[in-house]
Amino acid sequence: MKEINVDINHIAPVTKSDLGALEPAVADALNKLHNKTGLGNDYLGWVDLPGRTPEANIDEIIKVADDLRAACDYVVAIGIGGSYLGSKAVIEALANPFDVYTPGNGTKVLFAGQNIGEDYLYELQEFLKDKRFGIIVISKSGTTTEPAIAFRLLKAQLEQQVGRDNAAKLIVAITDAKRGALRQLATEEGYKTFVIEDSVGGRFSVLTPVGLLPIAVAGYDIRQLIEGARYMQRNTINANENNIAGVYAAARNALYRQGKKIEILVNYNPKLHFFSEWWKQLYGESEGKDHKGIFPASVDNSTDLHSMGQWIQDGERTIFETVITVGSTVHEKVIPSDDANLDGLNYIAGKRVDHVNKMAELGTRLAHIDGGVPNIIISVPVINEYYLGQMIYFFEKACGISGYILGVNPFNQPGVEDYKRNMFALLEKPGYEEQTAAIKSRL
Ligand code: PA5
Repeated sequence: MKEINVDINHIAPVTKSDLGALEPAVADALNKLHNKTGLGNDYLGWVDLPGRTPEANIDEIIKVADDLRAACDYVVAIGIGGSYLGSKAVIEALANPFDVYTPGNGTKVLFAGQNIGEDYLYELQEFLKDKRFGIIVISKSGTTTEPAIAFRLLKAQLEQQVGRDNAAKLIVAITDAKRGALRQLATEEGYKTFVIEDSVGGRFSVLTPVGLLPIAVAGYDIRQLIEGARYMQRNTINANENNIAGVYAAARNALYRQGKKIEILVNYNPKLHFFSEWWKQLYGESEGKDHKGIFPASVDNSTDLHSMGQWIQDGERTIFETVITVGSTVHEKVIPSDDANLDGLNYIAGKRVDHVNKMAELGTRLAHIDGGVPNIIISVPVINEYYLGQMIYFFEKACGISGYILGVNPFNQPGVEDYKRNMFALLEKPGYEEQTAAIKSRL
């Protein structure tokens, strides 16, 4: 079977010798990840997770997903950050965007708790009136404000629509084994629950029930997803040139050391938009520390060539691109011939749309390389569950290696707490009296 591949032949000014100089750091990072001897070593449960996930756990997730699918036309996955982006990325990569809201055509997963938009929540609740819906509420800490607000509203709506006892059967909670308000609430209300292991941080949790349950509810094959991840786990252990996670991690750090401070993840498939969002959280939250770290950005091409293309081609030379190139599409569409040819397109009549897309991709890549934008190329045979599983584990492993090469703890996120402290102080949360007084004196 084919696999995903990494090409670093176009990353000048980085040279082979720059990369060679990083080989000991890659080996050291792999050693720390596997032997749990580096910073944040309490959060390395994801490293061997695909290989040690018992079949019985996968069976149970599929069973719970099937029960929700039988009872619901819509399931709202409530969560934010790592408790949302992984399932959103996989579902958007696989779904037909035009049949999302068609009842009777499978169960659709909707998302909430990833913002505090009043209009968003109002419109979601209006939409769910009289609909057969269920809820998967996901919060590792069990105390995050955004999902807690969404859950309070949607729980009340579900109870009002089907009664409290029936609602309890349509709600699944995914949270810590013991701690947090959500655990307590789930126990008291008798919800079905799944546990997020202590050793797996939010942004590394897509291959736990956090990601797997919503993906299974949406009708996708989580066994194939895990199989892909298992393949990548097996093939990113040793420190050598075949370890593509090490190759990617070394290349991006070498570029960073030469002033390439911004990495743009580029796709030519609109279905990968949220995969880039997942990737941005993974790398941004893992590496942006101690006033260091590559800034992760993304573009969806060719759409964004018409908005960001100018900057990338000709702006400040502090960027590099990591291009996800997909071998084959799932469907075929040929450009028809037209007798009048008023649009002048007959020169590509009979060609696949994807052929045009690939030429746009190749032309852009060459132009950007000529313009001084180093390009890392990640080739994926096709977008399906198996290769998404490979990509997820690949990027996670590379992130761990890369963070250690950078010299940060890739597995904490202390900076995220600052906005929360200010928000709680401004909201006058009990326990924040001193901070409330201090912040109000600044206004
Ligand atoms: O990666 C992380 O740890 C964070 O992004 C969390 O996933 C996010 O803040 C949500 O946290 P929780 O699942 O505890 O509600």
